[in-house]
Amino acid sequence: MITNSHEQEEDVTLDTTLRPQKLSEYVGQHKIRKNLQMFMDAAKKRNEPIEHVLLYGPAGLGKTTLAHIIANEMGVNIRVTSGPAIERVGDLGSILTNLQDGDVLFIDEIHRLNKLIEEVLYPAMEDYKLDVIIGKGPSARTLQLDLPKFTLIGATTRLGSISNPLRNRFGAIHKLEFYDDSEMKQIIHRSGKILGVELDESGASEIARSSRKTPRVGNRMIKRVRDFAQINEHNTIDSAVARKALEMMEIDELGLEPTDRCILETIIKKFNGGPVGIQTIAAATSEEVETIEDVYEPFLIQLGFLTRTPRGRMVTEHGYKHLGYPVPEEKQKKLI
Ligand SMILES: Nc1ncnc2c1ncn2[C@@H]1O[C@H](COP(=O)(O)OP(=O)(O)O)[C@@H](O)[C@H]1O
Ligand SMILES: [Mg+2]
Repeated sequence: MITNSHEQEEDVTLDTTLRPQKLSEYVGQHKIRKNLQMFMDAAKKRNEPIEHVLLYGPAGLGKTTLAHIIANEMGVNIRVTSGPAIERVGDLGSILTNLQDGDVLFIDEIHRLNKLIEEVLYPAMEDYKLDVIIGKGPSARTLQLDLPKFTLIGATTRLGSISNPLRNRFGAIHKLEFYDDSEMKQIIHRSGKILGVELDESGASEIARSSRKTPRVGNRMIKRVRDFAQINEHNTIDSAVARKALEMMEIDELGLEPTDRCILETIIKKFNGGPVGIQTIAAATSEEVETIEDVYEPFLIQLGFLTRTPRGRMVTEHGYKHLGYPVPEEKQKKLI
């Protein structure tokens, strides 16, 4: 599937090959880029590490890429880990004590960090101190270690799941936005060049338009479309070739794939358009709640096909129309 919350091995290779190394190569996200540039220039002038940065937004929009770019532009090492990978306090301790001054520690899925470990992180972020407990029982004592002045970059798909004390310790919090068609086209062209895929303007536009405004999805698509073109002996990918390849993957002209349609259709047919709780949608579509929330829903909301209400998810009039269902009359009034 083109959209997949679980990173596959293929993705890791593709991501690494196609990942921009410099801020100037990073397409779009103008506000973040401007901000980060200022942040980094100021830090360099003061000869200090940059403040801790939290990046949030749906999967595949460029959070990990930005973390690498920051380290690269600052000329420091980056140590990469993730919330679920840090199981014990000692794991974090050994990561922290092995950093060097200025280094970037990148914690992906930082919302999945356990609470005990989070608490160790607070003094580390604030004062570059690590409290170590030595011994057990009544004779136990705390030892405070000085840590190198590092920069923590956290990434998350769910800002809401991050506790306030953790959130407050970041000097900057940036939300990554979906990419518009022209930005996606730029990314597609760039990736096509790196992968040696011959794409004309119309082909790049077609892929850009169908890639859910998400660079990772666009990059995966280029690969699939290239495979299709090779098998069918098309030298250049134009819009017709791209469209045919996408149709084979059951991706429509807006970039919706079968799972998106299944989610919308389920809400329409079984729950009269909603509101219906996410758990119920997950059970009815055999998808995981997390996958729906992190991968499918943000794009459906962005398209204006789905809304989140306190009582659950609802399909909008646009959603009904896109799938070709008549909008029920009582809905029409409610949805306006
Ligand atoms: N702004 C961008 N410009 C160009 N390519 C990008 C951009 N953002 C992401 N990408 C591409 O998309 C891939 C996925 O991005 P990644 O940073 O891993 O996303 P996230 O960590 O948010 O899930 C990267 O390998 C890169 O090739
Ligand atoms: Mg990532």
